[in-house]
Amino acid sequence: MSNNPRKYPDLHDHLAALKKAGLLLTVDRQIDKDAEMHPLVRWQYVGGIEQDERKAFLFTNVVDGKGRKYKFPVVVGALAANPAVYLMGMQSSAEDVEKRWGDATANPIPPRVVTNAACQEVIIEGDALKGEGNGLDSIPIPISTPGFDSAPTLTATNVITKDPDSGIQNHGTYRAALKSNDRLVIRMATRTGGAGGYRHYVKHQQRGDKEMPCAIVLGCPPSVAYVAPMKLPIDVDEIGVAGGLVGAPINVVKARTVDLMVPAEAEIVIEGYCDTEYLEPEGPFGESHGHVALEEFNIPMRVTAITHRKDAVVASYLSQVTPSESSAIKLVSYEPMFLNHLRKTLGIRGVKRVKLHERLTALRRIIIIVVEKNTPRTEIWRALQGASAFRADCGKICIAVDEDIDPENSDALFWAMAFRMNPVDDLQVINYRSPGHGPEREHATEQQDATLLMDATKKEELPPLALPKKEYMERAGKIWDELGLPKRRAQSPWFGPGDGDWLPQWDAAAKRAVAGDYQENGKISATQKRKGIKPESGFRPDEK
Ligand SMILES: Cc1cc2nc3c(=O)[nH]c(=O)nc-3n(C[C@H](O)[C@H](O)[C@H](O)COP(=O)(O)O)c2cc1C
Repeated sequence: MSNNPRKYPDLHDHLAALKKAGLLLTVDRQIDKDAEMHPLVRWQYVGGIEQDERKAFLFTNVVDGKGRKYKFPVVVGALAANPAVYLMGMQSSAEDVEKRWGDATANPIPPRVVTNAACQEVIIEGDALKGEGNGLDSIPIPISTPGFDSAPTLTATNVITKDPDSGIQNHGTYRAALKSNDRLVIRMATRTGGAGGYRHYVKHQQRGDKEMPCAIVLGCPPSVAYVAPMKLPIDVDEIGVAGGLVGAPINVVKARTVDLMVPAEAEIVIEGYCDTEYLEPEGPFGESHGHVALEEFNIPMRVTAITHRKDAVVASYLSQVTPSESSAIKLVSYEPMFLNHLRKTLGIRGVKRVKLHERLTALRRIIIIVVEKNTPRTEIWRALQGASAFRADCGKICIAVDEDIDPENSDALFWAMAFRMNPVDDLQVINYRSPGHGPEREHATEQQDATLLMDATKKEELPPLALPKKEYMERAGKIWDELGLPKRRAQSPWFGPGDGDWLPQWDAAAKRAVAGDYQENGKISATQKRKGIKPESGFRPDEK
């Protein structure tokens, strides 16, 4: 074990902190990594379990589909089973997290090079990689979507490549499918703004290199793991941003067989060379947008070494249909980023909250903007336009709602649309939007998408919501509990706030009615009789 000074937690420290906080569940019974592991963790996303009850799962007794045992434990959800797990890894509060990213990106701390590293305690090279049960076969990599995926696939990766011109390294979280003991196929997105590793691949091709050095790192210290799925500016060395996040240099060591620097405290490092000439079919694989990515040609890598800690833990992300670990990893920093953009950059003060819808819609498609009362209509539309244009792949549908609408509750959203939105005046469809990260479509003409903006705020005062006032609901709630009836889970709205088009005279009448004095109200209305009008004509006691 190395004794390099370190001012940041590694994965083992993080797991210990999660355990202490009740956020880690250890499963000691035997689990089949291919058929059982991801489906078991999936239940906490599809089983009606609340977000704050979700945990990371540590599996200590792992076998494969053939019953073969592995020496390494596997952890799923360790980086972002829910926002609390993510914030534990970030060592941050939800309020500070966006600023932490901003500060770390603006003030990266270069890494410190060490020569003796935990991630190289065990070194497997050459012939030792070959033969059944050796090489990649010795690492328990789970199947993410049993029934659809064609291979165990690395998901919680920091794939490290280097710009052959500038020498700057990139960390990206890319999936990699196992193909043999010493070969896997990596998927790097080729679209504009896609994978930084793909830019390096193209540069190597242009230089006539037949191969590109690559290191796939599993189980980085959390701060290092979190930089890999983040879209950071091109040519920023992400290991410096990870240092910025923890306020100290990250230890790195030279890889054994490729000219790359890898995080010294990582659990496992898979070193090798990516083929820049031939591509090999990879997939199908369940994708983070929620559909299965069908088979496509991707980048083969021949493995030249595997190094690992003696006590290595294998981390795997639960992705695919949202909510998932890959949506939670973005959610916590994306929402404040949008809020800041609307409030600070665009100066739209009326915006109180931005919610990216998560369940099934993969965060990026639907944005709900909560605005305060009396926000001018022009500002509401600026907010809708600002949110839809902020990032190319976010905000296909943007909806503005009032503060009494819970943006996490789809029923409340439908309620706002049903009563506060007039499709003729309050909707706009804007052409020309990239479809973004989504399922493949067969016809090129369908590749274009559009934007829908909707103002579902109240345009005028409505009569109060017809639910008993809070004091009566609370009083009755106590009786409910005394009676031992099923546990209540209050859903907003659960009482009538009493705002809107409402007069003190009606308030007084309601109080008298509750006090049993309805006949007093009868005496008053008897003096207000009128003739020569049609039934259902309105009456306002404040008007003569
Ligand atoms: C669980 C998970 C899996 C991902 N898989 C891939 C992938 O296979 N290929 C890819 O290009 N991006 C993938 N991404 C998105 C990239 O990590 C993201 O675009 C990141 O910004 C890439 O870093 P880079 O810009 O330094 O290349 C994934 C993200 C997550 C959270």
